[in-house]
Amino acid sequence: MSHAHFSLGPGTYAVPMSLHAENRRRLCDRLRARGVAPGAVVLLQGGEQRCEYDTDREELFKQESFFQWAFGVKEPGFFGAIEVGSGRSWLFAPRLPAEWAVWMGAIHPPEHFRALYEVEEVRFVDELAAVLAKLDAKPLLRLRGRNTDSGSWAEPAGFEGIEKFATDDEVLHPEMVECRVIKTAAEIELLAWVNEVSSAAHVAVMKKVRPGLSEYHLEADFLHHVYANGGCRFSAYTCICGCGPNSATLHYGHAGAPNDRVLRDGELFLNDSGAEYHGYASDITCSYPVNGRFTAEQRMVYEAVLAANRAVQAAMKPGVAWPDMHRLAERTILQHLLRGGLLRGEVDAMMAARVPYLFMPHGLGHLMGLDVHDVGGYPAGIERSTELGLKSLRCGRPLEAGMVITVEPGVYFVDALLEPALGDPKLKPFLVEDVVRRFRGFGGVRIEDDVLVTPTGSRNLTNVPREVDDIERVMAEGRRAAEPVLA
Ligand code: GLY
Ligand code: MN
Ligand code: MN
Repeated sequence: MSHAHFSLGPGTYAVPMSLHAENRRRLCDRLRARGVAPGAVVLLQGGEQRCEYDTDREELFKQESFFQWAFGVKEPGFFGAIEVGSGRSWLFAPRLPAEWAVWMGAIHPPEHFRALYEVEEVRFVDELAAVLAKLDAKPLLRLRGRNTDSGSWAEPAGFEGIEKFATDDEVLHPEMVECRVIKTAAEIELLAWVNEVSSAAHVAVMKKVRPGLSEYHLEADFLHHVYANGGCRFSAYTCICGCGPNSATLHYGHAGAPNDRVLRDGELFLNDSGAEYHGYASDITCSYPVNGRFTAEQRMVYEAVLAANRAVQAAMKPGVAWPDMHRLAERTILQHLLRGGLLRGEVDAMMAARVPYLFMPHGLGHLMGLDVHDVGGYPAGIERSTELGLKSLRCGRPLEAGMVITVEPGVYFVDALLEPALGDPKLKPFLVEDVVRRFRGFGGVRIEDDVLVTPTGSRNLTNVPREVDDIERVMAEGRRAAEPVLA
C-alpha cells in the first residue's frame, strides 16, 4: 500500500488519502448500522468546471464538499461510487479529448488517479452505467438534502441511463451529514494546521496595522501570508476587514463595500479572515485599535466580548446545548455593559426583552469543517428558535466530542438597531441613552476562535493574542520592527 497524499510541496501540509478512506469506511459502517443492504452503492457526483457568465473564462475549480470529504479529488467532472457492504470504492474520471493536452497539460490515465486517490478502481465516466450494472447495485444511494444555513439543495448524481437503476434519495444525506459533523483525528490535525496558518497570518497583519493604510492592504497581507506560507490558495470566505463604523457591518467586504476605507487613528479594526487547505476551513476574527493602544471605551467593550468568548469555551463539553452557550455569551455581555454604564436594570429582564440582540444580532457560532458554515447544525428533530438573536444560530444541537465549532461573540453599535430601540417603550428603559449615543460610530468588536469539542471539554485551535496587554505588546513589536534604523 502506498501512502498517497495531497500537498502543495515543501512547507505545506501533506494530507494523507487515508483521511478519505477512513471517511468512506465510517459512512459504510453507519449506513449498515441503519440497516442499508450490503448491495447498496453510494453514488456521488463531484463538482463541474464552471465559467463566468456566458464567457469561456474558467473559474478556479473548487471541489464540492461532500465529494471532497469522501474522495479528496481536486479535478472537476468526476463521479465516485462506494459499495456499502464491502466498502470497495471506484472513481470515474472524465474522458478528455486529445486536444486537452495542448492547452491544459498531460492527460492522465486511470492508473494515475488510482494511485493518487487510493481507491480500488478508476474507470471513465462513460463506463459508469456499465460498471454499476455489472455490480448489480441495489439500490443506488444518491445525495439529496437541504443545507440548513442556505436553504439550498444538494442535488442527486445523474448520468445517462440512470433510469434503469433503483435509486434511494432519502437515506444518504442525513447519514453523510452526521459523519461530517464529527471530525476524525486526521481531520482535526488538518483543521488545526490550517488554523495555525491563519493564526500566524492574523498576527502578521496585527503587526502591520496603522493609520493611513487601507482596509484592503490588510486583506492583501492576510491572503498573501496564508498562500506564501501555507500553500492556501483559497480563503474559506471573503475577508471582512473593517475599520471604524465598518467593523459593525457583519458581512462587510462584499463587492459593494470592498474593504476600501482608510484606517484612522483612534478607530477599531476588525479582521475576520480564514484560510482553507484541501477544502478544510478556518474562521478567525481579531479586533484591535488601529493605533495599537486601546482607549478606555474600546477596552471595556473588548473585555465584555472576551469574557463572553472565554466563559463559553470554559463551559463547552459534550451534552451542552449550543443555544445555552449563546445565552451564556449574551448574559456575560449584558453584565459587562451594565458595569460599563450602557445599560440599567435586571439581566433576566433584559434577556426576556431580547436586549442582547441589540448589541449582538448574530448567532454565537457555527459548525466548521469542509465548509466554513458546515453542515449538520439542525438535524431532524432539532428546531430553530424564533427568538431574536437565537434564530440566527446556525447550530441548535447539543455538543458532541469531535465537533469543531466557532465561538464568536461580538458587541456592535448599529444605528439601525439602536435608534428604533431608543424609541421602543419595552427596550428604552434598559438603555442609558446618552451613553449609548456616545458610542455611535464606534463600530464593533468580534472575537472568533475555532474550537474542538473534546470528551471532557474543549480545545481552542486558534492561537492569536487575545488579552489587551498581549495585543498592545504585539502591535508595539510590529511598530518597532517597521521603524527605520538610524545610523
Ligand atoms: N466569517 C464568517 C463567519 O464568521 O461566520
Ligand atoms: Mn468569521
Ligand atoms: Mn464564523
